[in-house]
Amino acid sequence: MTTKVNVASKNLAEIKDKCVAIAFFEDNLKLNKDITDFDKTISNAINDSIKNKDFKAEGNEVKAFYVNTKGVKYVALLGLGKEKEFTLNKLMDSVSILSKKIRSMDIKSFSIYFDSFKNKNFDFDTYLEKITQAVALSLYQFTKYKTKDLEKIKKIDKVTIIADKNNHDKASKIVSESLVYAEAVIKTRDLVNTPPNIAIPEYVSAYAKETARKNGLKFTVLDEKQLEKLGMECYMAVARASVNKPRMFILEYKGAGNEKPIVLIGKGVTYDTGGVNTKPANYMANMKDDKAGACSVIHVLEACARLKLRVNVIGIGAMAENSISGSAYKPDDVLKSYSGITVEVIHSDAEGRMVLADALAYSLKYKPKAVIDIATLTGAAIIALGYNASPIMGNDQKLIDKMKKASDKSLEKVWQFPLWEEYEELIKSDIADIKHLSSDIDAGAIVGGIFLKQFVKDVPWVHIDIGGAVWAKQDKGYRIKGATGFGVRLLLDFLRER
Ligand code: BES
Ligand code: ZN
Ligand code: ZN
Repeated sequence: MTTKVNVASKNLAEIKDKCVAIAFFEDNLKLNKDITDFDKTISNAINDSIKNKDFKAEGNEVKAFYVNTKGVKYVALLGLGKEKEFTLNKLMDSVSILSKKIRSMDIKSFSIYFDSFKNKNFDFDTYLEKITQAVALSLYQFTKYKTKDLEKIKKIDKVTIIADKNNHDKASKIVSESLVYAEAVIKTRDLVNTPPNIAIPEYVSAYAKETARKNGLKFTVLDEKQLEKLGMECYMAVARASVNKPRMFILEYKGAGNEKPIVLIGKGVTYDTGGVNTKPANYMANMKDDKAGACSVIHVLEACARLKLRVNVIGIGAMAENSISGSAYKPDDVLKSYSGITVEVIHSDAEGRMVLADALAYSLKYKPKAVIDIATLTGAAIIALGYNASPIMGNDQKLIDKMKKASDKSLEKVWQFPLWEEYEELIKSDIADIKHLSSDIDAGAIVGGIFLKQFVKDVPWVHIDIGGAVWAKQDKGYRIKGATGFGVRLLLDFLRER
């Protein structure tokens, strides 16, 4: 469950919460009148800790202490570092560290004194949005499969943001919209973290159906027989080794009458063993996250409905399990894709692009004005950009620029990779139209993009490779160890800008 966040308009001294958090910049440690009045009720504890250099307001510093008042029982001072060097990323990080620190003290609720974040670059709406998201995302925990000592798991039930009276209604609206974003991320994390024995293609498809029912989205699904009949040989080649049969589900959100839709396609490989080119154990671990693209698409569609965005969006989840058995596809196979292009298989672990090739080609029947795919496509994405950003590439610079803009707004980092024409050579096949992989590993993320490009014809298209950003190896700020839900905020800001 997402932590409740609401807005209240009060003076500091009137707050009756268990804990109140007040932020300071390192180079501006003056107390305003409201803080001074409040400080008097706690024997000038704030002023003293600043004077004694107990609290210096360095970046991410948190000093929390007990105070004996009728209202609050704890005060948490948060350091924001130097005002000039402050960024929205630092804002989210510091609020995340604060939230987790307060939770570790087993405090169940706290209030944030919003006014104390003001500085030269302060933008009310953006700050409020990022603080709300940081609180909700940083307090995420995945405990569904724990059965022991549940009462020992510390939780924060409620966070209140104290904003001035004149802005109360505006603030409430921003907070509730920001929480729609945060909930979409959190539900994506939950679904991606769900183990692969449970979250098989049929399960994720049923989950999407339930989401559609709750949010008034249109839902359709193609099962293995229909995929086969449609001639999706590339998709079915990947899927056919597993007893867990594939599902391609389609969610439709209509917020803009008869406008052409934007199609979002998510890679939904519920487990990637690598196939006959089996992954070594240390590379196979966590491959339940290979369905993250599809999981984010479900929750982006849900958020579109909740926010009533004025766009038409179609979300496709291409679900399959890349398994091993006598019927598995093999290197050297040649398959006829849904688009008609014949594909020579080089390596069964490059399965995502096979599934996506057919899903991309199929999506053109909706006459989309743009197609976006989001996929844990390559480990090369990690080598190129690490774990905090995603390569993006496509065939339409305007669309890519819009995605970059959404990236700046959402703070989910993307970096454009080129799809140079001369690299098309890398997927030339001796015996089929193309091969799905280059014969060497160079420019792995780009080659993935070049392959996918063949299946979208001239429809504006962007590919987001979340191979690195999908998973957090450790807790840092609001990125909690495990599935990150990367791409949800990016795509929502992309759709919202339009
Ligand atoms: N699902 C993986 C990509 C991946 C790797 C995602 C690590 C997240 C973390 C994809 O299907 C894959 O196996 N790619 C291979 C391709 C290779 C065989 C050419 C890779 O990138 O190593
Ligand atoms: Zn693979
Ligand atoms: Zn994969």
